[in-house]
Amino acid sequence: TNYTVVIVAAGQGKRMNAGRNKQFLMIGEHPLIVHTLKAFTEDKKCREIILVTNEADEKDMEELIMRYHFRKVRVVYGGKERQDSVYQGLLAVSDPSCPVLIHDGARPFVKRKNVHELVEKIEESGAALLAVPVTDTVKQMKDGKLETLNRDYLWAAQTPQGFSYDMIRQAHEKARENGFYATDDAALAESFGHNVSIVHGNYDNIKITTPEDLQKASAYVKK
Ligand code: CTP
Ligand code: MG
Repeated sequence: TNYTVVIVAAGQGKRMNAGRNKQFLMIGEHPLIVHTLKAFTEDKKCREIILVTNEADEKDMEELIMRYHFRKVRVVYGGKERQDSVYQGLLAVSDPSCPVLIHDGARPFVKRKNVHELVEKIEESGAALLAVPVTDTVKQMKDGKLETLNRDYLWAAQTPQGFSYDMIRQAHEKARENGFYATDDAALAESFGHNVSIVHGNYDNIKITTPEDLQKASAYVKK
């Protein structure tokens, strides 16, 4: 099946402390966002890429798209929070009959195999995300009481996360009406009663957040 992807890159990259949006920092030979875009521009099943960007970064993004001869990429402006940026991206999607994936610009190493497994799962069940089993022991401290969560049930959520277009559009509309903000899109679908499936992802699909992540990423592309 073909799919659309919304790539959100309209953050500020504050935790990276680079003085500019981390999307433009180099990983090996290419800027971070170029690695992310390539994962989808080089996939025939990906029919449309909506790249959500800051107004301040638009020129530089357009310039990269030209320099790399990326087809099928459209640039739209994001919003204050990540969720607002995703919503702006969803509004720009041309074909509501394709499943839509939502992906962080800051995850450059997503593998095509995982993307295709995800798309198949969305076809089956309407909503799915990539996630990996948590390897740390996770503690919960609530009202002064410490508990150890059962790791057998814990997954670390990644992106892409994918949905039938109408489902995620409606979930976003409702969340906006209620002023409800969640940290990922699956949480919106969950909160409106949809079952979201997990597709076992890959530990390499890290989100580049801090300078240490950037170092890991550079080492990763070298090998
Ligand atoms: N993002 C976005 N619009 C926002 C905030 C975030 O499109 N208003 C995007 C980021 O560009 C990033 C992804 O959402 O690709 C995940 O967010 P995060 O890793 O937190 O990136 P930033 O918000 O840019 O970084 P920070 O939180 O450190 O400022
Ligand atoms: Mg952020």
